[in-house]
Amino acid sequence: MRKKKLIVGNWKMNPRTLPLARTNFLSIKKAASAYKNVEAVIAAPFVYIPELAKLASAGLSIGAQNVSAEKEGAFTGEISASMLASLKVKYCIVGHSERRELGETNEFINKKIKQLLSAGIAPILCVGERDRDHGMLYLGTVKTQLEECLAGISKNMMGRIVIAYEPVWAISSTANRRDATPEDCQEMHIYIRKVLADMSGGTVADSVAILYGGSVDEKSAAGFIATGGADGLLPGRASLNPKTFLAIIKKTNELK
Ligand code: 13P
Repeated sequence: MRKKKLIVGNWKMNPRTLPLARTNFLSIKKAASAYKNVEAVIAAPFVYIPELAKLASAGLSIGAQNVSAEKEGAFTGEISASMLASLKVKYCIVGHSERRELGETNEFINKKIKQLLSAGIAPILCVGERDRDHGMLYLGTVKTQLEECLAGISKNMMGRIVIAYEPVWAISSTANRRDATPEDCQEMHIYIRKVLADMSGGTVADSVAILYGGSVDEKSAAGFIATGGADGLLPGRASLNPKTFLAIIKKTNELK
């Protein structure tokens, strides 16, 4: 498990313009460097990355939200892992439920993870069930996502992967959503670590950072870490407002 907590803001398809992205990034960066127990990242839309990467610092680095499953070549509209690496992108989200919704399969996500690892970028693999209406089946859903998305990845490389548990039913844009509790988070985090241990051994499983995402705000942030056992957070909506995002970072930084 990591010493520094990892807080990744997923901006999704926001904000509307590059000047606004710059302004928000800069105000986060200005304050974030004071919080030494936290590593902060903004996962920005592709088109903003070259500009924001120039502004990135030790206190606030830049991430991407997607990557091609292919290395290079005739893939119109795709962005490769090496292109992202050339812009100093440190992390890249893969397997987000909003992309799975567009048809991405575990097998496809597995290819993306391999591309990222060979380009030296840390994948943030999102896993999570759509709902909890079917007994304990949701554990099996997450197990399959982990096993299939991480198939064929060496123990060595496993330590570089970040997992984000994002129950779809708790994400802010989900219709009829409800809040996940720190206990929901804790249960799944323990389970994810067990699945990883079965796949790659306890030492590797312990070294993997497991984040929580799903309507995290400044009020809920500390509970997901302190009680929920998360090594960090993946806020979406709350990361769009620099003040709120910084409040999440501050709350996290205060935890022992
Ligand atoms: P919200 O924080 O808006 O629920 O988004 C979570 C998420 O999907 C982050 O990847």
